Amino acid sequence: MIFAGNWKLNLGPKAAEDFFNEFKKAEISEEIQKQCYFFPQNLSLSAAMNAANGLSVNLGSQNIASEKSGAFTGENSLEVLEELNLPYCLIGHSERRSLFKEDLNDIRAKMNLLNSSKVSAILCIGESLEERESGRTNEVLKEQLETALLEVPESKEFILAYEPVWAIGTGKVASPEMAEEAHLFVRNFLKEKYSEEKSKSTAILYGGSVKPESSKGLSQMPNIDGFLIGGASLKVDSFKGIIDNSEA
Ligand code: PGA
Repeated sequence: MIFAGNWKLNLGPKAAEDFFNEFKKAEISEEIQKQCYFFPQNLSLSAAMNAANGLSVNLGSQNIASEKSGAFTGENSLEVLEELNLPYCLIGHSERRSLFKEDLNDIRAKMNLLNSSKVSAILCIGESLEERESGRTNEVLKEQLETALLEVPESKEFILAYEPVWAIGTGKVASPEMAEEAHLFVRNFLKEKYSEEKSKSTAILYGGSVKPESSKGLSQMPNIDGFLIGGASLKVDSFKGIIDNSEA
């Protein structure tokens, strides 16, 4: 299982430091630490890196620009992630899509930029409530996957996160069965586009209001390989609660 914390615009440098000091006291085994990923806001990244020193957790950025450098005020560069040896970044989170107007082509450009880099994406996909209610969930997922992965070769590692937009930050978690159905669709997409092997080796995370109470049922589903966690990743207690309740 993978436990990824998306801190969004929360936890500044001091709070990030406090989080990892607390995390160190929580007696989380090294094996589990390696399965934990955290995405602080970029200005907290260096404080988080220092505070997580000695832990085996993975850190990354919540976003990168589709260009490596140049006149792009306010953006985050892949080159900096590479220089800092940070191996992951989120791409296409629904907040980037809706609030910052990233479209399918922007997300494809970011995925393509990573093709020649050691940094791997956690590519987020998911349908809105309206799309689900009109029976278009699979069509939307397919379109998001097809465009983002168009030029991504089989050899490039990435992680996928299925996050139904209606479940993000709303407290309305998808039922295990509903999430499993979407995960199976995504798994089959990978099998058709790439190979059986690629579909099995690519982790597919569920995200959207995951809490300690809901993690058990979701984690029992065969195609759910972990979680992308927003609100419940801000406190060690709830993050650890999700780990403890999950079945590998
Ligand atoms: P949430 O956020 O757990 O607060 O719903 C999940 C996410 O946006 O990745």
